[in-house]
Amino acid sequence: MTVEASSAATASRPSATDGELLRVDELKVWFPITEGIVIERHIGDVRAVDDVSFALRRGETLGLVGESGCGKSTTGRAIIRLYRPTSGRIVFDGVDLSSLEGSALRRMRRRMQMIFQDPYASLNPRMNVSGIIREPLEIHGIGNGAERRERVRELLATVGLNPDFGERYPHEFSGGQRQRIGVARALALNPDLIVADEPISALDVSIQAQIINLLEKLQGQFDLTYLFIAHDLSVVRHISDRIAVMYLGRIVELASSRDLNSVPLHPYTVALLSAIPVPDPVVESRRRRIILRGDVPSPANPPSGCRFHTRCWLRERLGNPERCTTEDPPLRPLASGHEVACHFAEDVADSIEQRQATGRPASASRAGAGAGSAAAASAGGSAAGGSAAVGGSAAGVSAPAQASTPGTAAPGA
Ligand SMILES: Nc1ncnc2c1ncn2[C@@H]1O[C@H](COP(=O)(O)OP(=O)(O)OP(=O)(O)O)[C@@H](O)[C@H]1O
Ligand code: SF4
Ligand SMILES: [Mg+2]
Repeated sequence: MTVEASSAATASRPSATDGELLRVDELKVWFPITEGIVIERHIGDVRAVDDVSFALRRGETLGLVGESGCGKSTTGRAIIRLYRPTSGRIVFDGVDLSSLEGSALRRMRRRMQMIFQDPYASLNPRMNVSGIIREPLEIHGIGNGAERRERVRELLATVGLNPDFGERYPHEFSGGQRQRIGVARALALNPDLIVADEPISALDVSIQAQIINLLEKLQGQFDLTYLFIAHDLSVVRHISDRIAVMYLGRIVELASSRDLNSVPLHPYTVALLSAIPVPDPVVESRRRRIILRGDVPSPANPPSGCRFHTRCWLRERLGNPERCTTEDPPLRPLASGHEVACHFAEDVADSIEQRQATGRPASASRAGAGAGSAAAASAGGSAAGGSAAVGGSAAGVSAPAQASTPGTAAPGA
Protein backbone atom coordinates (compact mmCIF):
# COMPACT_ATOMS: atom_id res chain seq x y z
CA MET A 1 0.00 0.00 0.00
CA THR A 2 1.17 3.46 -0.78
CA VAL A 3 0.81 6.31 1.62
CA GLU A 4 -0.10 9.50 -0.15
CA ALA A 5 0.42 12.89 1.36
CA SER A 6 -2.85 13.86 2.95
CA SER A 7 -4.33 17.28 2.47
CA ALA A 8 -4.01 17.84 6.18
CA ALA A 9 -0.32 17.16 5.94
CA THR A 10 0.48 20.61 4.68
CA ALA A 11 -1.26 22.27 7.56
CA SER A 12 1.63 22.68 9.95
CA ARG A 13 4.32 24.05 7.70
CA PRO A 14 4.27 24.58 3.96
CA SER A 15 6.98 22.74 2.09
CA ALA A 16 9.67 24.83 0.49
CA THR A 17 8.87 23.57 -2.96
CA ASP A 18 6.21 21.38 -4.41
CA GLY A 19 6.74 17.92 -5.75
CA GLU A 20 7.64 14.52 -4.53
CA LEU A 21 11.29 13.75 -3.90
CA LEU A 22 11.08 10.25 -2.48
CA ARG A 23 8.57 7.46 -2.68
CA VAL A 24 8.91 4.24 -0.74
CA ASP A 25 6.58 1.51 -1.96
CA GLU A 26 5.91 -1.69 -0.06
CA LEU A 27 9.48 -1.79 1.25
CA LYS A 28 10.59 -4.98 2.93
CA VAL A 29 13.99 -5.52 4.50
CA TRP A 30 14.33 -8.96 5.99
CA PHE A 31 17.54 -10.27 7.55
CA PRO A 32 17.97 -14.02 7.14
CA ILE A 33 18.40 -16.20 10.22
CA THR A 34 20.66 -19.15 9.54
CA GLU A 35 21.68 -22.26 11.43
CA GLY A 36 24.70 -24.51 11.14
CA ILE A 37 28.40 -23.79 10.66
CA VAL A 38 29.53 -26.01 7.82
CA ILE A 39 26.23 -26.11 6.00
CA GLU A 40 24.19 -22.98 6.63
CA ARG A 41 20.46 -23.48 6.66
CA HIS A 42 18.00 -20.62 6.28
CA ILE A 43 15.55 -21.08 9.15
CA GLY A 44 13.72 -17.77 9.16
CA ASP A 45 13.94 -14.02 8.77
CA VAL A 46 14.03 -10.97 10.98
CA ARG A 47 11.36 -8.86 9.30
CA ALA A 48 12.91 -5.55 10.30
CA VAL A 49 10.87 -3.59 7.74
CA ASP A 50 7.81 -5.36 6.48
CA ASP A 51 5.73 -3.52 3.91
CA VAL A 52 6.38 0.15 4.52
CA SER A 53 5.15 2.84 2.12
CA PHE A 54 5.30 6.61 2.27
CA ALA A 55 6.18 9.62 0.19
CA LEU A 56 8.30 12.67 0.98
CA ARG A 57 7.78 16.02 -0.66
CA ARG A 58 10.68 18.31 -1.42
CA GLY A 59 11.54 20.55 1.49
CA GLU A 60 9.47 18.71 4.06
CA THR A 61 10.49 16.88 7.20
CA LEU A 62 8.95 13.51 7.90
CA GLY A 63 9.48 12.27 11.44
CA LEU A 64 9.77 8.50 11.86
CA VAL A 65 9.16 7.33 15.43
CA GLY A 66 8.70 4.10 17.31
CA GLU A 67 10.19 1.91 20.00
CA SER A 68 13.64 0.43 19.78
CA GLY A 69 13.86 -2.35 17.20
CA CYS A 70 10.75 -1.36 15.22
CA GLY A 71 12.79 -0.85 12.04
CA LYS A 72 13.40 2.90 11.86
CA SER A 73 17.13 2.73 11.13
CA THR A 74 16.69 -0.15 8.73
CA THR A 75 14.15 1.91 6.79
CA GLY A 76 16.56 4.87 6.65
CA ARG A 77 19.50 2.71 5.64
CA ALA A 78 17.53 0.97 2.93
CA ILE A 79 16.48 4.33 1.49
CA ILE A 80 20.06 5.41 1.00
CA ARG A 81 20.86 1.86 -0.10
CA LEU A 82 23.19 0.98 2.75
CA TYR A 83 20.91 -2.07 2.88
CA ARG A 84 19.52 -3.79 -0.16
CA PRO A 85 15.73 -4.08 0.06
CA THR A 86 14.32 -7.60 0.13
CA SER A 87 11.47 -6.28 -1.98
CA GLY A 88 9.64 -3.09 -2.76
CA ARG A 89 10.63 0.09 -4.53
CA ILE A 90 12.51 3.22 -3.50
CA VAL A 91 11.96 5.92 -6.07
CA PHE A 92 14.15 9.00 -5.64
CA ASP A 93 13.38 11.95 -7.86
CA GLY A 94 11.71 9.65 -10.37
CA VAL A 95 14.51 7.05 -10.43
CA ASP A 96 13.96 3.57 -8.98
CA LEU A 97 17.00 2.99 -6.78
CA SER A 98 16.21 -0.68 -6.22
CA SER A 99 17.48 -1.54 -9.67
CA LEU A 100 20.57 0.71 -9.67
CA GLU A 101 24.10 -0.56 -9.21
CA GLY A 102 27.67 0.71 -9.57
CA SER A 103 28.30 4.23 -10.81
CA ALA A 104 24.61 4.95 -11.44
CA LEU A 105 23.85 4.19 -7.78
CA ARG A 106 26.87 6.22 -6.63
CA ARG A 107 25.65 9.22 -8.58
CA MET A 108 22.23 9.06 -6.94
CA ARG A 109 23.80 8.49 -3.52
CA ARG A 110 25.48 11.87 -3.73
CA ARG A 111 22.06 13.38 -3.35
CA MET A 112 21.19 11.41 -0.20
CA GLN A 113 23.21 11.59 2.98
CA MET A 114 22.88 10.28 6.50
CA ILE A 115 23.53 11.83 9.89
CA PHE A 116 24.14 9.17 12.51
CA GLN A 117 23.04 8.91 16.12
CA ASP A 118 26.42 8.61 17.73
CA PRO A 119 28.73 11.50 16.87
CA TYR A 120 31.54 9.67 18.69
CA ALA A 121 31.35 6.44 16.74
CA SER A 122 30.48 7.91 13.36
CA LEU A 123 33.64 10.01 12.97
CA ASN A 124 36.93 8.29 12.21
CA PRO A 125 39.15 9.11 15.22
CA ARG A 126 42.31 8.82 13.07
CA MET A 127 41.26 11.48 10.61
CA ASN A 128 41.29 15.17 11.31
CA VAL A 129 38.11 17.14 10.80
CA SER A 130 39.21 18.49 7.47
CA GLY A 131 39.87 14.95 6.20
CA ILE A 132 36.50 13.71 7.47
CA ILE A 133 34.53 16.45 5.73
CA ARG A 134 36.69 16.29 2.59
CA GLU A 135 36.33 12.52 2.19
CA PRO A 136 33.00 12.53 0.31
CA LEU A 137 34.38 15.16 -2.08
CA GLU A 138 37.40 12.96 -2.77
CA ILE A 139 35.32 9.81 -3.23
CA HIS A 140 33.16 11.57 -5.79
CA GLY A 141 36.10 13.40 -7.41
CA ILE A 142 34.73 16.86 -6.76
CA GLY A 143 37.11 19.84 -6.96
CA ASN A 144 40.89 20.04 -6.70
CA GLY A 145 42.88 20.22 -3.46
CA ALA A 146 42.50 23.98 -2.97
CA GLU A 147 38.80 23.94 -3.80
CA ARG A 148 38.17 21.10 -1.36
CA ARG A 149 40.07 22.92 1.41
CA GLU A 150 38.00 26.01 0.78
CA ARG A 151 34.79 23.97 0.75
CA VAL A 152 35.71 22.43 4.12
CA ARG A 153 36.22 25.90 5.63
CA GLU A 154 32.91 27.03 4.22
CA LEU A 155 31.10 23.97 5.62
CA LEU A 156 32.63 24.39 9.06
CA ALA A 157 31.41 27.98 9.14
CA THR A 158 27.98 26.88 7.91
CA VAL A 159 27.51 24.51 10.84
CA GLY A 160 28.74 27.08 13.34
CA LEU A 161 32.31 25.87 13.86
CA ASN A 162 35.51 27.85 13.49
CA PRO A 163 36.90 27.25 9.97
CA ASP A 164 40.39 27.06 11.49
CA PHE A 165 39.44 23.88 13.42
CA GLY A 166 40.01 21.66 10.39
CA GLU A 167 43.35 20.33 11.60
CA ARG A 168 41.91 19.14 14.91
CA TYR A 169 40.77 15.59 15.65
CA PRO A 170 37.28 14.43 16.73
CA HIS A 171 38.33 13.74 20.34
CA GLU A 172 39.12 17.45 20.76
CA PHE A 173 35.45 18.36 20.32
CA SER A 174 32.37 18.14 22.53
CA GLY A 175 29.44 15.90 21.56
CA GLY A 176 27.47 18.77 20.07
CA GLN A 177 30.48 19.97 18.07
CA ARG A 178 31.08 16.45 16.77
CA GLN A 179 27.51 16.24 15.60
CA ARG A 180 28.04 19.56 13.81
CA ILE A 181 31.02 17.94 12.07
CA GLY A 182 28.74 15.04 11.08
CA VAL A 183 26.27 17.55 9.68
CA ALA A 184 29.04 19.33 7.74
CA ARG A 185 30.10 16.00 6.23
CA ALA A 186 26.51 15.24 5.26
CA LEU A 187 26.24 18.64 3.56
CA ALA A 188 29.52 18.35 1.64
CA LEU A 189 27.94 17.00 -1.54
CA ASN A 190 24.96 19.37 -1.53
CA PRO A 191 22.40 16.61 -0.97
CA ASP A 192 18.66 16.89 -1.51
CA LEU A 193 17.69 14.35 1.15
CA ILE A 194 19.17 13.84 4.59
CA VAL A 195 18.26 10.81 6.67
CA ALA A 196 18.93 11.93 10.24
CA ASP A 197 18.99 8.79 12.37
CA GLU A 198 18.44 9.89 15.97
CA PRO A 199 20.85 12.79 15.51
CA ILE A 200 20.33 14.20 18.99
CA SER A 201 19.69 11.09 21.10
CA ALA A 202 23.30 10.84 22.28
CA LEU A 203 23.58 14.53 23.18
CA ASP A 204 22.98 16.42 26.40
CA VAL A 205 19.52 17.95 26.59
CA SER A 206 21.04 21.44 26.59
CA ILE A 207 22.75 20.73 23.26
CA GLN A 208 19.83 18.98 21.58
CA ALA A 209 17.93 22.19 20.85
CA GLN A 210 21.02 23.73 19.25
CA ILE A 211 21.36 20.85 16.80
CA ILE A 212 17.62 20.91 16.02
CA ASN A 213 17.83 24.65 15.38
CA LEU A 214 20.87 24.15 13.16
CA LEU A 215 19.07 21.47 11.12
CA GLU A 216 16.04 23.72 10.71
CA LYS A 217 18.21 26.64 9.62
CA LEU A 218 20.07 24.49 7.10
CA GLN A 219 16.82 23.15 5.71
CA GLY A 220 15.71 26.66 4.81
CA GLN A 221 19.15 27.62 3.54
CA PHE A 222 19.73 24.61 1.29
CA ASP A 223 16.18 23.44 0.55
CA LEU A 224 16.80 20.13 2.27
CA THR A 225 14.32 17.32 2.74
CA TYR A 226 14.63 15.37 5.99
CA LEU A 227 13.66 11.94 7.16
CA PHE A 228 14.11 12.54 10.87
CA ILE A 229 14.27 9.34 12.92
CA ALA A 230 13.70 9.33 16.67
CA HIS A 231 12.32 7.00 19.32
CA ASP A 232 10.72 9.89 21.16
CA LEU A 233 7.64 11.64 19.78
CA SER A 234 8.39 14.78 21.76
CA VAL A 235 11.62 15.19 19.79
CA VAL A 236 10.13 14.95 16.32
CA ARG A 237 6.90 16.80 16.82
CA HIS A 238 8.46 20.25 16.67
CA ILE A 239 10.68 19.68 13.67
CA SER A 240 8.38 17.51 11.55
CA ASP A 241 5.74 18.51 9.02
CA ARG A 242 4.35 14.99 9.14
CA ILE A 243 5.02 12.06 11.42
CA ALA A 244 4.95 8.34 10.69
CA VAL A 245 4.69 6.05 13.71
CA MET A 246 6.26 2.61 13.30
CA TYR A 247 5.53 -0.57 15.20
CA LEU A 248 7.23 -3.89 14.53
CA GLY A 249 8.32 -3.15 10.97
CA ARG A 250 5.16 -1.33 9.88
CA ILE A 251 3.83 2.20 9.79
CA VAL A 252 0.73 2.24 12.00
CA GLU A 253 -0.18 5.93 11.74
CA LEU A 254 0.82 8.78 9.47
CA ALA A 255 -0.49 12.32 9.74
CA SER A 256 0.56 15.93 9.94
CA SER A 257 2.53 16.64 13.08
CA ARG A 258 -0.25 18.85 14.40
CA ASP A 259 -2.99 16.29 13.84
CA LEU A 260 -1.01 13.36 15.13
CA ASN A 261 -0.26 15.21 18.34
CA SER A 262 -3.72 16.63 18.87
CA VAL A 263 -5.91 13.75 17.67
CA PRO A 264 -3.86 10.54 17.56
CA LEU A 265 -5.99 7.74 16.11
CA HIS A 266 -3.92 4.59 16.57
CA PRO A 267 -3.92 3.02 20.04
CA TYR A 268 -0.12 2.79 19.91
CA THR A 269 0.29 6.50 19.11
CA VAL A 270 -2.09 7.33 21.94
CA ALA A 271 0.08 5.30 24.31
CA LEU A 272 3.25 7.03 23.10
CA LEU A 273 1.69 10.46 23.54
CA SER A 274 0.37 9.61 26.99
CA ALA A 275 3.98 9.25 28.12
CA ILE A 276 4.88 12.84 27.21
CA PRO A 277 4.24 15.29 30.04
CA VAL A 278 1.97 18.26 29.35
CA PRO A 279 3.41 21.60 30.52
CA ASP A 280 0.28 22.46 32.49
CA PRO A 281 0.35 21.14 36.07
CA VAL A 282 -3.45 21.03 36.39
CA VAL A 283 -3.95 19.06 33.19
CA GLU A 284 -0.91 16.93 33.91
CA SER A 285 -2.19 15.92 37.33
CA ARG A 286 -5.33 14.48 35.75
CA ARG A 287 -3.67 12.60 32.94
CA ARG A 288 -3.02 8.92 32.96
CA ARG A 289 -0.23 7.21 31.21
CA ILE A 290 -1.08 4.15 29.18
CA ILE A 291 1.48 1.55 30.04
CA LEU A 292 1.87 -0.98 27.27
CA ARG A 293 2.22 -4.42 28.69
CA GLY A 294 5.04 -6.72 27.74
CA ASP A 295 7.83 -6.25 25.28
CA VAL A 296 7.66 -5.64 21.57
CA PRO A 297 7.25 -9.11 20.00
CA SER A 298 10.09 -10.49 17.91
CA PRO A 299 10.17 -9.26 14.32
CA ALA A 300 11.24 -12.81 13.42
CA ASN A 301 7.82 -14.05 14.48
CA PRO A 302 5.31 -11.19 14.43
CA PRO A 303 1.85 -11.78 15.93
CA SER A 304 -0.98 -12.82 13.60
CA GLY A 305 -3.56 -10.30 12.44
CA CYS A 306 -2.75 -6.89 13.86
CA ARG A 307 0.83 -6.90 15.09
CA PHE A 308 -0.10 -4.67 17.99
CA HIS A 309 -2.84 -6.94 19.32
CA THR A 310 -0.72 -8.49 22.08
CA ARG A 311 -0.36 -5.06 23.73
CA CYS A 312 -3.41 -3.14 22.59
CA TRP A 313 -5.54 -1.38 25.20
CA LEU A 314 -8.31 -0.71 22.67
CA ARG A 315 -8.69 -4.36 21.76
CA GLU A 316 -9.11 -5.17 25.42
CA ARG A 317 -11.65 -2.41 25.86
CA LEU A 318 -13.63 -3.65 22.86
CA GLY A 319 -13.83 -7.16 24.30
CA ASN A 320 -11.02 -8.72 22.25
CA PRO A 321 -12.65 -8.76 18.80
CA GLU A 322 -11.52 -11.68 16.68
CA ARG A 323 -10.62 -9.42 13.77
CA CYS A 324 -7.62 -8.08 15.67
CA THR A 325 -5.98 -11.50 15.73
CA THR A 326 -7.02 -12.76 12.31
CA GLU A 327 -6.97 -9.77 9.97
CA ASP A 328 -3.93 -7.60 9.31
CA PRO A 329 -5.22 -4.00 9.29
CA PRO A 330 -4.04 -2.03 6.27
CA LEU A 331 -2.95 1.59 6.57
CA ARG A 332 -6.18 3.30 5.54
CA PRO A 333 -7.03 6.96 5.12
CA LEU A 334 -9.61 8.39 7.49
CA ALA A 335 -11.77 11.43 6.95
CA SER A 336 -9.47 13.38 9.27
CA GLY A 337 -6.57 13.01 6.85
CA HIS A 338 -4.76 10.47 9.03
CA GLU A 339 -3.63 7.16 7.67
CA VAL A 340 -4.16 4.55 10.37
CA ALA A 341 -3.61 0.80 10.51
CA CYS A 342 -6.32 -0.19 12.99
CA HIS A 343 -9.68 -1.80 12.31
CA PHE A 344 -11.23 0.28 15.07
CA ALA A 345 -9.47 3.64 14.75
CA GLU A 346 -12.83 5.44 14.76
CA ASP A 347 -13.30 4.28 18.36
CA VAL A 348 -10.16 6.15 19.37
CA ALA A 349 -11.50 9.51 18.15
CA ASP A 350 -12.54 11.58 21.15
CA SER A 351 -12.10 8.63 23.51
CA ILE A 352 -11.09 9.30 27.07
CA GLU A 353 -7.68 7.79 26.36
CA GLN A 354 -7.12 10.13 23.44
CA ARG A 355 -8.15 13.15 25.46
CA GLN A 356 -5.94 12.14 28.36
CA ALA A 357 -2.98 11.50 26.13
CA THR A 358 -3.27 14.89 24.48
CA GLY A 359 -4.39 16.72 27.62
CA ARG A 360 -7.31 18.31 25.82
CA PRO A 361 -10.81 18.86 27.12
CA ALA A 362 -13.58 16.93 25.35
CA SER A 363 -15.06 19.87 23.51
CA ALA A 364 -11.70 21.01 22.18
CA SER A 365 -11.02 17.50 21.05
CA ARG A 366 -14.18 17.38 19.00
CA ALA A 367 -13.43 20.72 17.43
CA GLY A 368 -9.75 19.91 16.98
CA ALA A 369 -10.47 16.64 15.27
CA GLY A 370 -11.83 18.71 12.44
CA ALA A 371 -12.44 15.47 10.79
CA GLY A 372 -16.00 15.57 10.62
CA SER A 373 -17.48 12.23 10.40
CA ALA A 374 -14.96 9.94 12.02
CA ALA A 375 -14.48 11.96 15.17
CA ALA A 376 -18.00 13.22 15.43
CA ALA A 377 -19.56 9.86 14.81
CA SER A 378 -17.54 8.23 17.52
CA ALA A 379 -17.96 11.07 19.98
CA GLY A 380 -21.30 9.70 20.97
CA GLY A 381 -19.77 6.37 21.71
CA SER A 382 -16.87 7.74 23.65
CA ALA A 383 -18.64 8.03 26.96
CA ALA A 384 -19.39 4.37 27.02
CA GLY A 385 -16.07 3.52 25.55
CA GLY A 386 -14.34 5.84 27.94
CA SER A 387 -15.79 4.41 31.06
CA ALA A 388 -15.19 0.92 29.87
CA ALA A 389 -11.60 1.80 29.16
CA VAL A 390 -11.03 3.28 32.55
CA GLY A 391 -12.62 0.25 34.04
CA GLY A 392 -9.80 -1.62 32.43
CA SER A 393 -7.20 0.72 33.79
CA ALA A 394 -5.82 -1.75 36.26
CA ALA A 395 -4.71 -3.79 33.34
CA GLY A 396 -3.38 -1.25 30.97
CA VAL A 397 -3.62 2.32 32.20
CA SER A 398 -1.60 3.68 35.08
CA ALA A 399 -3.18 6.53 36.99
CA PRO A 400 -1.24 9.07 39.01
CA ALA A 401 -2.28 9.53 42.64
CA GLN A 402 -4.12 12.77 41.93
CA ALA A 403 -6.16 11.35 39.10
CA SER A 404 -9.87 11.94 39.13
CA THR A 405 -12.11 9.04 39.98
CA PRO A 406 -11.93 6.59 37.12
CA GLY A 407 -14.80 6.77 34.77
CA THR A 408 -16.34 9.93 36.19
CA ALA A 409 -14.91 12.61 33.98
CA ALA A 410 -12.40 13.05 31.28
CA PRO A 411 -9.45 15.14 32.38
CA GLY A 412 -9.96 18.74 31.65
CA ALA A 413 -13.49 18.08 30.54
N1 LIG B 1 22.13 -6.32 10.17
C1 LIG B 1 21.15 -6.90 10.84
N2 LIG B 1 21.05 -8.25 10.93
C2 LIG B 1 20.03 -8.85 11.60
N3 LIG B 1 19.05 -8.18 12.23
C3 LIG B 1 19.11 -6.85 12.19
C4 LIG B 1 20.15 -6.13 11.50
N4 LIG B 1 19.92 -4.80 11.65
C5 LIG B 1 18.81 -4.68 12.39
N5 LIG B 1 18.32 -5.90 12.71
C6 LIG B 1 17.11 -6.18 13.49
O1 LIG B 1 16.04 -5.54 12.80
C7 LIG B 1 15.14 -4.97 13.75
C8 LIG B 1 15.01 -3.49 13.46
O2 LIG B 1 16.25 -2.88 13.76
P1 LIG B 1 16.47 -1.31 13.61
O3 LIG B 1 17.89 -1.03 13.97
O4 LIG B 1 16.02 -0.88 12.28
O5 LIG B 1 15.49 -0.72 14.70
P2 LIG B 1 15.35 0.77 15.24
O6 LIG B 1 13.91 1.07 15.20
O7 LIG B 1 16.27 1.66 14.52
O8 LIG B 1 15.79 0.61 16.76
P3 LIG B 1 16.63 1.62 17.70
O9 LIG B 1 15.63 2.64 18.19
O10 LIG B 1 17.11 0.72 18.81
O11 LIG B 1 17.74 2.21 16.89
C9 LIG B 1 15.69 -5.29 15.12
O12 LIG B 1 15.04 -6.44 15.60
C10 LIG B 1 17.14 -5.56 14.87
O13 LIG B 1 17.65 -6.45 15.82
S1 SF4 C 1 -6.70 -3.59 14.98
FE1 SF4 C 1 -7.28 -4.28 17.07
S2 SF4 C 1 -5.35 -4.85 18.06
FE2 SF4 C 1 -4.85 -3.60 16.25
S3 SF4 C 1 -4.62 -1.53 17.01
FE3 SF4 C 1 -6.74 -1.77 16.32
S4 SF4 C 1 -7.91 -2.43 18.12
FE4 SF4 C 1 -5.74 -2.71 18.57
MG1 LIG D 1 17.89 2.82 15.09
